[in-house]
Amino acid sequence: MEVIIVKDRDEGSELAARRLRNRVSSKPASVLGLATGQTPELLYRKLTEWQDSDPVNFKQVITFNLDEYMGLENSHPESYHYYMTTHFWGPLGILEDQRFIPNGLSKDPQQECLNYEAMIQEKGPIDLQLLGIGRDGHIGFNEPMSSLGSRTRIKTLTESTRKDNAAAFSSKSEVPYHVITMGIQTILEASEIVMLAFGDAKAEAIKGCVEGPLTSVCPASALQMHPRCKVIIDEAAAKRLQYQSYYREVYEKKPSWQKAEFV
Ligand code: PGA
Repeated sequence: MEVIIVKDRDEGSELAARRLRNRVSSKPASVLGLATGQTPELLYRKLTEWQDSDPVNFKQVITFNLDEYMGLENSHPESYHYYMTTHFWGPLGILEDQRFIPNGLSKDPQQECLNYEAMIQEKGPIDLQLLGIGRDGHIGFNEPMSSLGSRTRIKTLTESTRKDNAAAFSSKSEVPYHVITMGIQTILEASEIVMLAFGDAKAEAIKGCVEGPLTSVCPASALQMHPRCKVIIDEAAAKRLQYQSYYREVYEKKPSWQKAEFV
């Protein structure tokens, strides 16, 4: 796990956006695993803005989303389908048949989970998976005690996640209880993972993810098993880490060929 501590959200989003663009420049038919929520919003905005001055061709890119609420129409402003249309697919011109997200309205949700997982196997592996992290340590919507060997399936959100996500809905009672999410094993099969976390509220989860024991109590700790995982965090999210100075030193002393990933 490579921990990169940045000054703020802007610097972290820029770094991750550059990594993603480089991936697509060097492999135009990249398969991207994408996250929703507040964390990647600035990253997606930067990618969109850079298209004006220095365009990269996203026409061959295939995207898979981590998760979706069950029971929300695609046109619901809080559905992740709507989020993706607004923040990524639309602005970057991802073709409709190259966008994949679980269908939370499926009449047979268990079959939908199997189909989604099969589609990832068919089109994948995912070249680059972006992740945020929940305050309870979830990745995707893999809440605490999710099996570390899990694949795409239905999950029930924790009270803490429903509360955190309520801000975007008109009231907490409107936040769905159920979701479809890629599993932890599905996520770990991506060739490369970039996790982003900003702000004090994520400090505890980041501590568990980076330095805690490998445990389903903090699903993000499973990333310790991944051979190519970058965790890009601001100072507030890093504040509980014991080895902060070591992470900073590793990054400062990176050989130039490794820094090229972000150029
Ligand atoms: P957030 O959510 O980006 O809205 O903080 C992160 C997550 O739940 O994974």
